[in-house]
Amino acid sequence: MGRKSSRDPDSAESSPTLPALKTPIPGPRSLEIFAAERAYLGPSRQKITLLAQIAFENGHGATLTDADGNVYLDFVAGIGVASLGHGRKDLARALSAQAERLIVGSFANRTRLRALQRLSELLPSYLGAISLFSGGAEAVEAALRVARSYTGKHEVVGFWGAFHGKTGAVLGLAGDGSKKGYGPFSSGQYVIPYADCYRCAFRMSYPSCGLYCVEFARRYIDQVSAGAVSAILVEPCQATTGNVVPPDDYLPALKKVAREKGALLIVDEMITGAGRTGRMWAIEHSGVEPDVMTIGKGIGGGFPVSATVCRPELVERGPFSLPGSASSSYGGNPLAAAALEHTLRVIVEERLVENAREVGAILLNGLRELMEEFPFIGDVRGRGLLIGIDFVRNRKTKEPLGQKTMHFIFSEALKRGLLTMGYSARMRINPPLVLSAEQAQAGLAILRDVFKLVERSISWRTEN
Ligand SMILES: Cc1ncc(COP(=O)(O)O)c(C=O)c1O
Repeated sequence: MGRKSSRDPDSAESSPTLPALKTPIPGPRSLEIFAAERAYLGPSRQKITLLAQIAFENGHGATLTDADGNVYLDFVAGIGVASLGHGRKDLARALSAQAERLIVGSFANRTRLRALQRLSELLPSYLGAISLFSGGAEAVEAALRVARSYTGKHEVVGFWGAFHGKTGAVLGLAGDGSKKGYGPFSSGQYVIPYADCYRCAFRMSYPSCGLYCVEFARRYIDQVSAGAVSAILVEPCQATTGNVVPPDDYLPALKKVAREKGALLIVDEMITGAGRTGRMWAIEHSGVEPDVMTIGKGIGGGFPVSATVCRPELVERGPFSLPGSASSSYGGNPLAAAALEHTLRVIVEERLVENAREVGAILLNGLRELMEEFPFIGDVRGRGLLIGIDFVRNRKTKEPLGQKTMHFIFSEALKRGLLTMGYSARMRINPPLVLSAEQAQAGLAILRDVFKLVERSISWRTEN
């Protein structure tokens, strides 16, 4: 079951597949580069990079190697971006061949045609209209424009715990702390509780709740909106808040609410798409048929490419049907198209969706075993290679473990050669889709060692 090692045709026998450490972590060269960069970069970099203080030089499959030659297992994948893993010479060749021919422009192009054909083969057949962009927020903003344009309405319903990017029209729909201090946001944006069953906002339990959160959405729209809801915008699994997996009947029930209110259902598959959850798109788990889907991150193997895909009739009406409504300087340029075409082809040829399912099951089962052993693990959930863990002081109260303890977990894992998003009490695991069974087991062994250390050496019930 699962991959033995990377099937990248250029995979060298000597390329590392497991952690190997040579220096204290972070090593001297990493620290030197990190400190030198600090003179130029502001403080607002990604938290994981600030905590790690590591400078990576190269990668191979699901491993990363730093400037001191230390090899780490990567359970982050650039936050769900590096679907094919690191250091892919086949991807580099595809990009290089295209860069030598043509990089810029949005005229019709053979490479883009091949990318569009491949993407449409993988998409549900009813999502036939594709608009290409570069970043995730850009694609979600376009989806919101489609909804406004088609319905003639302007309001949007989003969810607690959600993240759709940091640009103007989506920042107000963030259900995390990232929008604090940036108001006022676009008007007519409502953010209501998601089906985060472990931390249910209504303190109910599934299935006896009867999906009360969906009923709440219905009533909320009735009571609070101006009757102009153009879209419900939802992630099929909420990634940023902690890889939260809702019940299978949640999305179909939300779609029903959208239909009742004359709104579109927009599903944001930025992280969950391209095979990460063990299906090509996470909507396949529930069978829901959205009106619009936004995709990005893993579809380009690391190259910035994203897309808004819709039912064709939606883009044939209103201002969005006008030429230029979905154009941008870089979106879907020939180089991005080459990355998209190559990445999607490799995901299919190397059976990475199946690998995500199989190796994800190994990780999930292993983590559930760890949950039996360690009282500070409150919940383990996941789909494929999108896995979340809640760390708690007390399983009854579900009070999260303190930041100090989580930073300890993060840095002790790193010192053993495992890069995780383990610095928050809702830990996210989203490795490259090429992760092998052996690598999953190695990661589990490191986590077990770290958890034992926490149990022995940290006052985790009280530490802040
Ligand atoms: C679900 C989701 N949508 C949108 C975005 C925004 O993507 P980007 O950072 O490319 O703008 C993210 C980023 O993490 C995301 O997780």
